[in-house]
Amino acid sequence: MKEKYDVGIIGATGMVGQRFITLLSDHPWYNIKVLAASPRSAGKAYRDAVGRKWCMDTEIPADVAGMTVMNAQDDAEKIAGMVDFVFCAVDMKKDEIKALEERYAKAECPVVSNNSAHRHTPDVPMIIPEINPQHLEIIPAQRKRLGTKRGFIAVKSNCSLQSYLPAMAVINMKYPIDRAIVTTYQAISGAGKTFETWPEMVDNLIPYIGGEEDKSEVEPNKILGIIEGNEIVPSTELAIECQTYRVPVSNGHTAAIFFSFKDGVQKPSVEEIEQMWRDYKGEPQKLNLPHAPKQFIYVHTESDEPDQPQINTARTIDGGMAISCGRLRKSTQFDYKMVSMSHNTLRGAAGGAVLLAELLTVKGYMD
Ligand SMILES: NC(=O)c1ccc[n+]([C@@H]2O[C@H](COP(=O)([O-])OP(=O)(O)OC[C@H]3O[C@@H](n4cnc5c(N)ncnc54)[C@H](OP(=O)(O)O)[C@@H]3O)[C@@H](O)[C@H]2O)c1
Repeated sequence: MKEKYDVGIIGATGMVGQRFITLLSDHPWYNIKVLAASPRSAGKAYRDAVGRKWCMDTEIPADVAGMTVMNAQDDAEKIAGMVDFVFCAVDMKKDEIKALEERYAKAECPVVSNNSAHRHTPDVPMIIPEINPQHLEIIPAQRKRLGTKRGFIAVKSNCSLQSYLPAMAVINMKYPIDRAIVTTYQAISGAGKTFETWPEMVDNLIPYIGGEEDKSEVEPNKILGIIEGNEIVPSTELAIECQTYRVPVSNGHTAAIFFSFKDGVQKPSVEEIEQMWRDYKGEPQKLNLPHAPKQFIYVHTESDEPDQPQINTARTIDGGMAISCGRLRKSTQFDYKMVSMSHNTLRGAAGGAVLLAELLTVKGYMD
């Protein structure tokens, strides 16, 4: 490992890009070298390009405010030559994002992506670092396809499923689950918005988020899949049906879940499941990565805290990187029901990507 890695943020002016800046400005391993966005922002000082769109609780870090924003597309090869790797979170058409990310990878610049464009490319790992770090082993096959020595793309999953899949995946490691009904209640920052920019969301609920139900139903099976040859083959064991709602919450996605075990599985008790969650340590905890939450899954028992997890306390636990679960109890139609939540722009977006980059770094993929 090098002492410091120079990084670029592609989409630096956006909601997720701003989170990257706050998380990386005092990172022990990473130095923000490049900020890039659309032609609208290129050539401007960051503070002018982001302007009133800056919506973090803290000020723009002083050393970032004056940096000149580069053009993510026109300057791609130049940027690739200036940094060790890039984070990417852009609002563009899917095929344009695919091409842009491959362009950086082919210029020998690893890409850690928040975008959905490559989530189903069979040799692109889609990682929740605590759940499927073994999928990084597909990267040599991807490099071979791209014809690169260092360049590759690794993605994180959709933000909504990070509020519930970790809890289910930990149970699933010992007691296979075969079906679940999930309803997600998603914050407005997930759409890159604030109450100021989306006043219609005050005192409102929208029972539709375009494309999101599909992601919640399909992505978990890639995460639970296995590597076979040159691709990650999705699991066919778990069927999820999902409804998604946009709710008047600034940050934090909550999910209500009903689930059942595979036929023949001896069902664990509520106490056993809760203990599995408390005891679970993934690679980020074992490796003590800078953004790893000390406790991956926080547990609220139904008997002691039936009104938890609540957004405004749970979303900031361990820097917004923990998952909070509660209300685990027997269901009449399924085996169990429960509630879980996570911070959508921290664990679910920029924080999850930074944790993925840290895992890639200690495993030597950024050298
Ligand atoms: N918000 C979340 O919680 C969340 C969670 C997970 C994943 N994501 C994903 O992350 C990505 C970004 O989301 P966001 O919420 O941060 O969006 P956003 O706030 O709308 O920001 C979009 C960013 O993309 C840049 N951009 C737009 N067109 C571009 C172009 N032609 N070339 C280069 N850059 C361009 C924008 O630059 P300008 O300012 O110059 O226009 C801006 O920096 C999306 O793919 C989204 O699905 C978001």
